[in-house]
Amino acid sequence: MIAKASAPAKTILFGEHSVVYGEPAIAGAVNKRAYITIRESNNDRSVFKAPDIGFEAELLTRHKKYILTKGKPGIIRYILEALYKAHDHSPIEITLSSNVPIGSGLGSSAAVTVATLAALYRYHNVRFDKKSLAHDAHMVEQAVQGVASPLDTLVSTYGGIVYLSRNKKIEHINAKFNVPFVVGYTTKHGNTGKMVKDVKNLKMRNPKIINPVITAMGNLTNYAKQAILKGDFDKVGELMNINHGFLDVLGVNTLELSRMVYNAREAGAIGSKTTGAGGGGSIIALCPGKVDEVAHAIARDDNILKIRFTRKGVSSRFYK
Ligand code: MEV
Repeated sequence: MIAKASAPAKTILFGEHSVVYGEPAIAGAVNKRAYITIRESNNDRSVFKAPDIGFEAELLTRHKKYILTKGKPGIIRYILEALYKAHDHSPIEITLSSNVPIGSGLGSSAAVTVATLAALYRYHNVRFDKKSLAHDAHMVEQAVQGVASPLDTLVSTYGGIVYLSRNKKIEHINAKFNVPFVVGYTTKHGNTGKMVKDVKNLKMRNPKIINPVITAMGNLTNYAKQAILKGDFDKVGELMNINHGFLDVLGVNTLELSRMVYNAREAGAIGSKTTGAGGGGSIIALCPGKVDEVAHAIARDDNILKIRFTRKGVSSRFYK
């Protein structure tokens, strides 16, 4: 018995931080995926293997614990939480392969969680649909992280470009947005919790300045939705640049992030901005016709990815 599933990573295009205050956000699934395979174990123990990142552990699924055999933990907590939720504790071998670099800011944890749950449901012949899967994956993320926005797991489940409205409704932006982006990631991982707290404190100290900026970020996201629907890439790029400026106001950009953002523009990107929480993490640059130039301009030690948005969400299969 073998079950396989894969799910895409995502990137936030517009609305990071302002989404915390009820403003809209836009995120899209990208053509980098996490692949999970589950098969019966050939002994009485469960193991998790991620050969790409040199990681191997024995899993004590009943106790959400693991015994490390090789490598560093990280993503393992999501796997254990998913197993705790959807597995009967029989011995299995679970393998992860992924072309989403961990720490690239592309939401690898959501992609891994969605793929793990989908593979487990297939393995146990449990009926599921995308709605229940996105919900369960969000619960897993929340259990591991304490707080999590549902956006990452929704995008990894459904694929495509997703708009989260002011009243928290999810809308799929049905547009052909097959345009190339480059992601540049810094060596420093941003701490989302800390960044969210820093913005909150800044807002409390300067409400008359920061509140209108957050509202403007929401309005910008709504303009961006229209521009994406129209396929107006120049407008999307312009709005990305303005958004980067707003993120600067919020104090989440770093020298390394902004250097990549401006180098990308110099090299021909029509828009570039920090993506995600900032304080480290990643930038995204929209660069039709200039992918290689932009990648070259911002690359240092293999820290770039060339991506496109994809409509392909989770996919899963079962083999007897
Ligand atoms: C982090 O990827 C995005 C933030 O808006 C936090 C969140 O929405 O949970 C900074």
